[in-house]
Amino acid sequence: MQTAALPSFAPLAEDAEADAAVVGGGIAGLSTAWELARAGLRVIVLEADRVAGGVTGHTTGKLTVLHTSVYDMLRRRHGEDAARDYADSQSAALRHVFEVAGRLGIDCELETRPALTYTRQPDGVGALRAEAEAARAAGLDASFVTETGLPFPVSGAVRVEDQAQFHPLKYLGGLVADIVAHGGRVFEGTRVTGLSHGDPCRLTTEGGATVTAGHVVVATHHPVFDHAVLATRLTQHRDLVVAGPLPADRDPGGMFITREGGKRSVRTAPLADGSRLLIVTGEVFAPGTGADTRAGYARLEEWTEQQFPGVTVSHRWAAQDNSATDDVPLVGRLPMGGGNVYVATGFAGWGMTGGVMAGALVASLVAGAPQRWAGLYDPGRLGSVVRTAPSYLKAQWDTGRHFVKDRLDALGDGTHGPVRDLRPGGATVVRAGGGACAVHRDDEGGLHAVSAVCTHMGCLVAFNNAERTWECPCHGSRFGIDGTVLQGPALSPLERRDPGDLL
Ligand SMILES: Cc1cc2nc3c(=O)[nH]c(=O)nc-3n(C[C@H](O)[C@H](O)[C@H](O)COP(=O)(O)OP(=O)(O)OC[C@H]3O[C@@H](n4cnc5c(N)ncnc54)[C@H](O)[C@@H]3O)c2cc1C
Ligand code: FES
Repeated sequence: MQTAALPSFAPLAEDAEADAAVVGGGIAGLSTAWELARAGLRVIVLEADRVAGGVTGHTTGKLTVLHTSVYDMLRRRHGEDAARDYADSQSAALRHVFEVAGRLGIDCELETRPALTYTRQPDGVGALRAEAEAARAAGLDASFVTETGLPFPVSGAVRVEDQAQFHPLKYLGGLVADIVAHGGRVFEGTRVTGLSHGDPCRLTTEGGATVTAGHVVVATHHPVFDHAVLATRLTQHRDLVVAGPLPADRDPGGMFITREGGKRSVRTAPLADGSRLLIVTGEVFAPGTGADTRAGYARLEEWTEQQFPGVTVSHRWAAQDNSATDDVPLVGRLPMGGGNVYVATGFAGWGMTGGVMAGALVASLVAGAPQRWAGLYDPGRLGSVVRTAPSYLKAQWDTGRHFVKDRLDALGDGTHGPVRDLRPGGATVVRAGGGACAVHRDDEGGLHAVSAVCTHMGCLVAFNNAERTWECPCHGSRFGIDGTVLQGPALSPLERRDPGDLL
């Protein structure tokens, strides 16, 4: 975000109409808008904040079809054809980025690199051999190796050749310019709060203006309009990321990720002075569960500085993605959406190829000529949900447990901790006026209080002590300490409370 300047756009101020309205300006929404605008449709993009400022603005930008160890899983759970469709669709997306960047002359630091999934544990080797074999069977140039280029030994790795990494915001800046050049209109600071189905559909925005459109694409990451209850089929995971400069001659020369828990993902990116920026991701946690994120950052920084001696961490950030319980993204017509509402979500940490794939797939559905893999990604699929029922049931159990137990914890004995004893930077959830109240004390000693009841479906939020945000454990909505929505599916802020009433 420091090194890409995207154009800014005014909020939607008056009612508008379009052939297609895309809600959400991340890589999935912008890729879809670009395909539709290029197909000759009048397109409107409605973005709550800034385009590419959501998860896409906080990604690590690997553009690869090696999604940790997805092929062996796909083959076992969904069959050989599903694994091949997945490989073909994601490979098509990777090639598409090269073609589009070339055609539009977008300088987005595209670099060809191998992608590797590695293990440092001897008992992890069997699974990676199986993954290499499954990826080859799916048509990829994959092999099992023991040398990786990383500065530490590994027990084994799957390596796929000719993958890529890029600067996603520079790429999307080029797409946005081309959308506008093809008559598309983009509105930022425009949160969509309502969807009336029909032909055309009608969207309502927070500012009051409406958009009528023949097709609506819900590309808001977690779907904000969800009559098919897709939320029950999505789980959230939040990753921490650290980065620091590395001399170019110590670049490990690939994109790496671990398969086992204790995830570490590594890549480098070019810096203006010719050195590289080492980017390391890990310390994954479920948002809203009260994980000690400050301690997580400390562990990630320590690992980075130990494994790459001489690197000093200069940047850190966090972001979250979601995964479908059957591990395949949900892209296509929204079930019960009337046939002209589409959704793209559940990229499981791989939305760079996934978002580009979604753009082409949704455009093919709008054009009435679905791509071969439309069935694999169909949000209405039920067979694979049934086959993966234990994952589905666990997600429901976790949500139910948070809904009931967190509420009892907060309301049962009246308090999680007295407000007056809160230290600067601290936070607590207390009972106040019959409801749960989320309270944070800032570094200057000021108190900030909001309702702790998430405005999505009523679970109780928990504090993230590094980012100083309130996060919901049920579907991952995030709020500022003043209650502002930072990330959906919640559409409205947490109600403000008077901290004076809590002392
Ligand atoms: C730490 C991390 C590293 C990652 N690294 C990689 C990687 O190396 N390679 C890879 O392939 N994938 C990676 N991913 C995954 C990838 O970044 C995501 O899958 C992808 O960015 C999701 O894009 P999106 O368009 O679905 O969501 P977003 O980028 O979040 O876009 C959704 C947009 O919708 C807007 N919005 C939300 N609600 C509304 C509303 N009501 N009205 C209007 N607008 C709204 C939001 O403001 C946002 O801009 C990573 C993910 C994480 C968390
Ligand atoms: S995000 Fe769904 S209840 Fe909070």
